[in-house]
Amino acid sequence: MATFACSTDAPSSIRADVLVLPVYEGPEAGPGVRDVMGVDLLALYSAAKLKGKKGENLLVPNTGIAGLAATSVLLVGLGKRGEVTTDTLRRAIGKVGPQLAKQARVATTFPQAAGRGIEDGVQATVEGLLLGSYRFDRYKSGKGDDVPEKPALKDVTLLGSPRWNLHAMKEAATRGEVVSESVAWARDLVNMPAIDCTPDYLAKQAQKMAKEVGLECKVWSEVQLKRGGFGGILGVGQGSVNPPRLIELRYKGAAASQAPIALSGKGISFDSGGLSIKPADGMEWMKSDMGGAASILAAMKATARLKPKVNVIAAVPSAENMPSGSAIRPGDVLVHRGGTTSEVLNTDAEGRLVLADALAYLAEQKPRVILDTATLTGACMVALGEEIFGVMGNDRGVIRNVIAAGEAVGEQGWELPLWPRYRKLIDSEVADIKNVGKRWGGAITAALFLSEFVGETPWAHLDIAGPAFAEKAGDYWPKGGTGVPVRTLVRYVLSQAERPTRRR
Ligand code: BES
Ligand code: ZN
Ligand code: MN
Repeated sequence: MATFACSTDAPSSIRADVLVLPVYEGPEAGPGVRDVMGVDLLALYSAAKLKGKKGENLLVPNTGIAGLAATSVLLVGLGKRGEVTTDTLRRAIGKVGPQLAKQARVATTFPQAAGRGIEDGVQATVEGLLLGSYRFDRYKSGKGDDVPEKPALKDVTLLGSPRWNLHAMKEAATRGEVVSESVAWARDLVNMPAIDCTPDYLAKQAQKMAKEVGLECKVWSEVQLKRGGFGGILGVGQGSVNPPRLIELRYKGAAASQAPIALSGKGISFDSGGLSIKPADGMEWMKSDMGGAASILAAMKATARLKPKVNVIAAVPSAENMPSGSAIRPGDVLVHRGGTTSEVLNTDAEGRLVLADALAYLAEQKPRVILDTATLTGACMVALGEEIFGVMGNDRGVIRNVIAAGEAVGEQGWELPLWPRYRKLIDSEVADIKNVGKRWGGAITAALFLSEFVGETPWAHLDIAGPAFAEKAGDYWPKGGTGVPVRTLVRYVLSQAERPTRRR
């Protein structure tokens, strides 16, 4: 991993292999461009017929440019000055991340380019660099010729303007590093094939992580789940040779009397659909059906390292949804933690069955809020597309805060209504509720199912079926797991720590 340093020295004086400077549409010089006086960088940029639009980049080698310490300058187009946000920075530097990873020393004035808070500019720059150069190659044997070379990146210098507070910059850089490492870990878990990433593997990874960062961790075995009445997790898992688990994590950052934030995430290590089997086409993506679980584990890891003054607990249910002689059947009834019964009419609506147990368990502990995240429904993708997660819940304030946290970190969520009139769609003839509604409004009926298990606890559910996994590479992610919504969750947890907490 690269190390990050912060400085308010003149950009031209910084020794680096590449000095990355922003250019706005026009082209108009971004921070640091005019500081290089031995050459007219903007004139070179214009001469290449570049206008400063997003993605319009130019590498200028230092062939004896007077007063320039760096070996080269990379001019990066950011688009219209007035429209640049911290996410513009993350995306622009993320896109050149693979190129920058080949250099040992990178310096950049990017943190200054959004013209907003110092801290968010620094954090977004770090995240863009690290997340943009992420790749998943642990299954490349090295025998082929498609193994990318090891990243060379060692030192990154983040350049602030002379008035900036170096301490605040450094803290923001650390936050960016911690968050990016967690996101990369979540991506790894999602990208791992289900033959290796089983519920037990997830649990072992969580235990290892907990030990490293100082979290309490308890993994519930099948026997313990049976004793605890976790019929949903057991039911979904019973068709697989890989037994289900419940992963419990605890972070203590405040007095024990303070009610914790509670988190849960869907951890289906593979979703074949079970006996209600999915079509073969695209089934390989279903190794990503534990994206919610991965993001919760990763958010807990980041929380433990950033140490906010707040308590956080997590209960992550994990199972493999397979068809077999021991699998649950359509028509079966499961008894969830707390006693609520559900009629399974489609074994492919399994995420809500495992989450139900975890949510009931969390609600028992009287948290101040519950957030859950899940690759829950194709219907949510139909409604919001591949990049936006759906947010549903029983508390306006919580929903608003989650969406705001996402917006601050460049992860977009949008509220769908938890419409009470649709509740009757999951009425069951034989059990308390059934696990599918009708075809229309599938994201909402799934959330209504979950809402039965949180009691009165303020709660929001994030349906990440779209953004958890990218079918195509984007600005700062390759094809595969994206790590959404780790950044939103961490932002939310940190935002809750700042304000005084209510007691319950
Ligand atoms: N894991 C899927 C949802 C999903 C689909 C996530 C595509 C990502 C991409 C979930 O378990 C599922 O199968 N949902 C069904 C529910 C239906 C049977 C009510 C769906 O969305 O079709
Ligand atoms: Zn699923
Ligand atoms: Mn399913």
